[in-house]
Amino acid sequence: MAASLSESLPLPPGTSGLPLIGETVPWVRDPLLFAQERFERYGPVWRTHLLGRPCAVLLGPEANRFVLGTHMHLFSSRAGWGKPITSLIGDGLSLIDGAEHRRHRRMIQPVLHGEMLSHYFAVMHDIAVQHTEKWSRHGQLKLFEGFKHLSFDIAARLMLGAQAETDAERIRKYFHEFTRGLFAPPAWKVPWTPYGKAWQAGVRLRAAILRIIAERRRGADGQQMDILGLLLAARDEQGIGFTDMELVDELLVLLWAGHDTVTSLLTWVFYELLHDRAIYDQLVDEQARVVGSGVLTLVQLKRMPLLDAVIREVERLHPPAPGGFRGVVTPFEYGGYRVPAGWTVMYSSVFTHHMPELWQAPGRFDPHRFRAPREEGRKPFSLIGFGGGPRVCVGLAFAQMQMRIVVSHLLRHFRFELRPGQSFKPVAVPTKMPKDGLVVRVDVK
Ligand code: HEM
Repeated sequence: MAASLSESLPLPPGTSGLPLIGETVPWVRDPLLFAQERFERYGPVWRTHLLGRPCAVLLGPEANRFVLGTHMHLFSSRAGWGKPITSLIGDGLSLIDGAEHRRHRRMIQPVLHGEMLSHYFAVMHDIAVQHTEKWSRHGQLKLFEGFKHLSFDIAARLMLGAQAETDAERIRKYFHEFTRGLFAPPAWKVPWTPYGKAWQAGVRLRAAILRIIAERRRGADGQQMDILGLLLAARDEQGIGFTDMELVDELLVLLWAGHDTVTSLLTWVFYELLHDRAIYDQLVDEQARVVGSGVLTLVQLKRMPLLDAVIREVERLHPPAPGGFRGVVTPFEYGGYRVPAGWTVMYSSVFTHHMPELWQAPGRFDPHRFRAPREEGRKPFSLIGFGGGPRVCVGLAFAQMQMRIVVSHLLRHFRFELRPGQSFKPVAVPTKMPKDGLVVRVDVK
């Protein structure tokens, strides 16, 4: 679809919306409807104005492959996030490009994959057991809040190490302020704006993480098998490790990228299961067959095809990030249109995940679509809730393991009942959640 650039080509069709804010409001309110309406009007390539910048939207699996894979050299991830975010978060993996990104990725990826995951299994499992015991004592809770606390504790324990336990509450507080202000314009560094508060929380957060790193570097107890321990030991091809400042930025990004997303997906798993008792019961049966009354093992976790399908179906229907942005570094042509440097491009996971050409009855929760004989979602770049290509989510395997442990534990030990009178309307916070947080009654089985 792409060819060499010609100045005579038109810009993509579309509108810029209101001065300054462009079309940001309708996009934030409903990213799926926003994309579907404009697809009807303009087709798979159009222009809009989001988050203060002109933006070309490229829709469908081929477009996803173009942006995330074959033509990723045209784009900058850092420029896609924009200045307010990058100046708050710094230079962690999702915010760097080119050779620096490849170097960091090569050092981080092994820490979150393969054999290393087995070192995290017991910690994830223990924290899930501790948290959910408390839930059942309360009787009723907002599952979103419960999952948020649980995922943060798992992330803090595994990413910052055992020392973080004493600091965990303080770090959680800073982190809450930090993420609340990340996407809250105006980006003024003054104490009364959410962005300004996020800035101050970021300063404290960095200081706390630096202290933890310094203690670990001084520690005489050898390398610890957690993410910080492994990142401290990681070396590039020249034998050079991360500096303290690089580590702080990486840990901040891992904490940020790694716990709101898991919280959102787990919440929507339970939203769907509590609205579809037949699938819920099939999952409980699978758990009884695979784990029985024993203790969950890592091997068993890999033998749960229905749970796999449910998690994939929720990734499809409720991707925590509706899509992603890139900054255009090199002007390019796509689908007969010209996209100038300095714009952003957006790919849309949520649109792709609802394309009737790819999915039967795309609005329906139907995990069996992923299983034989249908096996939907095999077309490359059609299921992209974790991104795709060389920058696919580096925490994918970590997140998948954590979600399976939590759902398996909950299904085997607890009963849930949705409380009446609540709103399930999706709101972006900035990852999607049901408006009232999914209020349930929890009882021990
Ligand atoms: C349900 C859970 C998760 C979802 C849905 C998710 C989704 C995503 C997506 C869509 C991207 C690609 C963004 C883009 O390129 O436009 C991404 C990248 C990333 N994710 Fe995740 N993520 C999840 C969990 C995690 C976890 C647990 C971690 C850390 C342990 C993590 C760390 C990262 C990082 C560092 C990147 C940037 C990778 C790079 O640019 O090379 N994520 N994630």
